Amino acid sequence: MSLTNFPGGCSSAPSTTPTTKVTMPALAEMKRQGKPISALTAYDYATSRLVDEAGIDLILVGDSLAMVVLGHENTLAITVDEMLHHTRAVRRAVRRALVVADMPFGSYHSSVAEGVANAVRFIKEAGAEAVKIEGPRVELVRALTAAEIPVVGHLGLTPQSVNRMGGFRVQARTAETVLQLKADALALAEAGAGVIVLEGVPREAAAAITAELPVPTIGIGAGPDCDGQILVFHDLLNLTFAPPAKFVRRYADAGALIHTAIEHYREDVEHRTFPSDEESYHLASAVREALDPAVKVQK
Ligand code: KIV
Repeated sequence: MSLTNFPGGCSSAPSTTPTTKVTMPALAEMKRQGKPISALTAYDYATSRLVDEAGIDLILVGDSLAMVVLGHENTLAITVDEMLHHTRAVRRAVRRALVVADMPFGSYHSSVAEGVANAVRFIKEAGAEAVKIEGPRVELVRALTAAEIPVVGHLGLTPQSVNRMGGFRVQARTAETVLQLKADALALAEAGAGVIVLEGVPREAAAAITAELPVPTIGIGAGPDCDGQILVFHDLLNLTFAPPAKFVRRYADAGALIHTAIEHYREDVEHRTFPSDEESYHLASAVREALDPAVKVQK
């Protein structure tokens, strides 16, 4: 883990971030070359640095932050201003990965013009390099592309549709809905989407779409045949408080690690073993001598 140059003086090994900047065309080239694309969500400066330095290709400032960071039940409540705030923090941290900002619910649903205006804010005010929108919004993708805003589409289980879907349910389980999903993905790509996230769909559907689509697919709960994979940062590290979905693989138990560390800190404070003398600042001896004996530091 490298925390070199963090404000606050943390230090560790030097950064190992691969230097070639990831761009939308670079992701297309990865698909052409059959190179898997790694993607992960991140929402703040410290974790984005870790994600970027680990060599992840695409960082999504997902609206999942409403749930995993802010404690909402679903993603619907988060606002454009809240998403901008987190996107700026991620942008400050990331050197290599492509930074994609999720457009929140309500920010592109009333009109194409409103969607473009809000997307411009993510590029201009927060430094995002692409925006992600949910659903087969072909006209909006066309308008964003015309406005020079790279687009990541998102199909299948689209969390902003939770009320219409009646819960977070796997989509495209019938032949008819698989064909509709494929048609939607092709239409988004034709309109200019450079990447399509496929979430919560059967492996076979994602594989068929990935094989036909000219742009990369990135799967989450969509099986191993997509061009890339994305997970939510907090799921990967067990920083959530609910049982994980079937598709989540826990790569570390950061929740347990943090819990234990904080308990040790509390115990040290309670036993007065933190901070130690070595962890304290000291007066110069001349200053110590000049002080009233009552306020002298005992050494
Ligand atoms: O908001 C999010 O984290 C997402 C990913 C699950 C793709 O949209």
